[in-house]
Amino acid sequence: TIDEKVNALLKQMTLEEKIGQLNQYTGNNQATGPITINPNKETEIKKGLIGSMLNVIGTKYTRQYQELAMQSRLKIPLLFGQDVVHGYKTTFPIPLAEAASWDLAAMELSARIAAVEASASGIHWTFAPMVDIARDPRWGRVMEGAGEDTYLGSKIAYARVKGFQEKLGNVNSVMACVKHFAAYGAAIGGRDYNSVDMSERMLWETYLPPFKSALDAGAATFMNSFNDLNGIPATGNKYLQRDILKEKWNFQGFVVSDWGSIGEMVNHGYSKDTKEAALQAITAGSDMDMESNAYRYHLAELVQENKVPITLIDDAVKRILRKKFELGLFDNPYKYSNLEREQAAMNNPEHRKAARIIAAKSIVLLKNVIPSAREKNILPLSKDTKTIAFIGPLVKEHKQNMGFWAVELPELDYNTQVVSQWEGVKNKVGSSSKLLYAKGCEIDGDNKDGFAEAVAIANQADIVILSIGERADMSGEAKSRSNIHLPGVQEELVKAIQATGKPVVVLINAGRPLVFNWTADNVPAILYTWWLGSEAGNAIADVLFGDYNPSGKLPMTFPRAEGQIPIYYNHFNTGRPAPNDTAFNYVSAYTDLNNSPKFPFGYGLSYTTFEYSDLKLSKNKIKSTEKITVSLHVKNSGNVAGEEVVQLYLRDKVGSVVRPIIELKDFQKIQLNAGETKVLEFIIDKEKLSFYNAALQWITEPGDFDLMIGSSSTDIRLKNTFELVK
Ligand code: IFM
Repeated sequence: TIDEKVNALLKQMTLEEKIGQLNQYTGNNQATGPITINPNKETEIKKGLIGSMLNVIGTKYTRQYQELAMQSRLKIPLLFGQDVVHGYKTTFPIPLAEAASWDLAAMELSARIAAVEASASGIHWTFAPMVDIARDPRWGRVMEGAGEDTYLGSKIAYARVKGFQEKLGNVNSVMACVKHFAAYGAAIGGRDYNSVDMSERMLWETYLPPFKSALDAGAATFMNSFNDLNGIPATGNKYLQRDILKEKWNFQGFVVSDWGSIGEMVNHGYSKDTKEAALQAITAGSDMDMESNAYRYHLAELVQENKVPITLIDDAVKRILRKKFELGLFDNPYKYSNLEREQAAMNNPEHRKAARIIAAKSIVLLKNVIPSAREKNILPLSKDTKTIAFIGPLVKEHKQNMGFWAVELPELDYNTQVVSQWEGVKNKVGSSSKLLYAKGCEIDGDNKDGFAEAVAIANQADIVILSIGERADMSGEAKSRSNIHLPGVQEELVKAIQATGKPVVVLINAGRPLVFNWTADNVPAILYTWWLGSEAGNAIADVLFGDYNPSGKLPMTFPRAEGQIPIYYNHFNTGRPAPNDTAFNYVSAYTDLNNSPKFPFGYGLSYTTFEYSDLKLSKNKIKSTEKITVSLHVKNSGNVAGEEVVQLYLRDKVGSVVRPIIELKDFQKIQLNAGETKVLEFIIDKEKLSFYNAALQWITEPGDFDLMIGSSSTDIRLKNTFELVK
């Protein structure tokens, strides 16, 4: 068995070699943290002092390093890890965008394809999925997760792990690494790397479930986190890593630290020096040290001083070796580095097709009204539109569309690999429309010199498409922003173009919810396009011209202003809930800002309409051992086929601890032809009615529940109530 092999190998290992397995260094590609130059890397690999590397890209380079490891005494293969966050060569939409698709099968497929490509290129392990719940769009890393909701986030975490791993040991699977354990998404003020202070109940109810779900999907590894949680850095946090993860949840894989996070416990003021940090981290359950050099230089001494029992080291080593055996690396250390397979995987047209479909599914139609001087909505655009002015700083960009955390393959020309929005629209309309272009302005800065040209071409056009937003590197790690309005003078450009009286469609490209109130209130059509990856331009054109009917729904609440943050749909009612957006006198409200968001969680329009009817509950009273079958009809009442995300929410009316005013508990994404009706069924069971009580027990309590079914968290179409009895 693998365990026997691991034990046999362990017996042959010196302490130094054991510690080597716990040590991870970066390679030369695209540093993803502060670089510490380590000139002896290659000699150390040959001595068996390094167990894993990150940021080594491609068959050629992974093979070179593996050859060095094969020169070590025990020939223990290296593990190659990489942030394959949303695709490898084929770049998929950023994870937050994909989450907007609410399409679990599509997300599983995108992770699968990423695994096929990465594993062909020598990568064994991706540092994904990030499953941190995020309620603060100032935090740059919201782009990397599934948004604010625990239920949706848990489902997505599960799908992504399944997609990456399929079956570990298969040559086209990679190990997933669920991160960041835990609560990183709640960094105070949305500032990256900041502290987190949170109640146990909030931790268990809101932040931990996606991790548990990823584990249930079989996640092989976890990454701990930069933040401290209630005063204890996650990396040195025994409660998180040992008590919860390894004991309560019985996690058998290994935990890698985040980049330098062991050493950073000195900065936190938790460790007096790196040696103490190493002691605290290994004791707390961090098995592998990414780039701190803390284990490498201090663990042996700590063992000799009897501060770290050898059993702790052995446990960590065994966890890592087990994975190397499971992947089949001892049978063939080059199993995943195969030039032919790499070339075939990288040039598979099916991957591009899938990327285009999921990119289109990720787009959210925020607004589509009939502008004055027109009889119908602007979108979808007619392919016979005579003249289209395509304006904005993002129209002709290629690489920007990849967003943050895209893998940059050395020697690849992204100008030919990523379809720009200009190319996408051009591909779509061919010669039947005249396309005019002006940049208008830069993404940031205050230069308006380009406005006149933009207005001039708008005046010549029948329709204007404006592509604006963030730069890709404005969201991501270390990309928190205190001001999340549209950067620079872009909203002024929107005003100038809107003043021409031409019908305007705005595309907003971003890695987070932005604030763009004037645009939202005045421009008739808005598509939120996030960052969509390699096929961005084609996918955007598919939606603009109606070849794909938009179906995305927001996975995060969009605020009106930064002052509302943190903002999320499933909040408590408070003792003085504001009855409406204008009331503020002695109610829980701002005197100068509405409570309601600009766009709510779960929101997104379609080119068709859906009618909900015939809500039926099999019972209105159940015991906790029983279930309710909920059924309803959904009809496509418009003229074109479309997809709808039917969302089921509950409210537990009274609890021994207060419950949110509304909580997503299920959803189904369905496809309906024009005029078609489908009957949907949902099951309400004990799990959906449970919560953590004050003693942190996962329980149900008898009482009344509201059942709400709708097209968003605020667009509730059908309602009923039921009672849970003893
Ligand atoms: O995986 C990442 C992590 O999410 C943030 N710090 C760097 C790691 C490795 O690149």
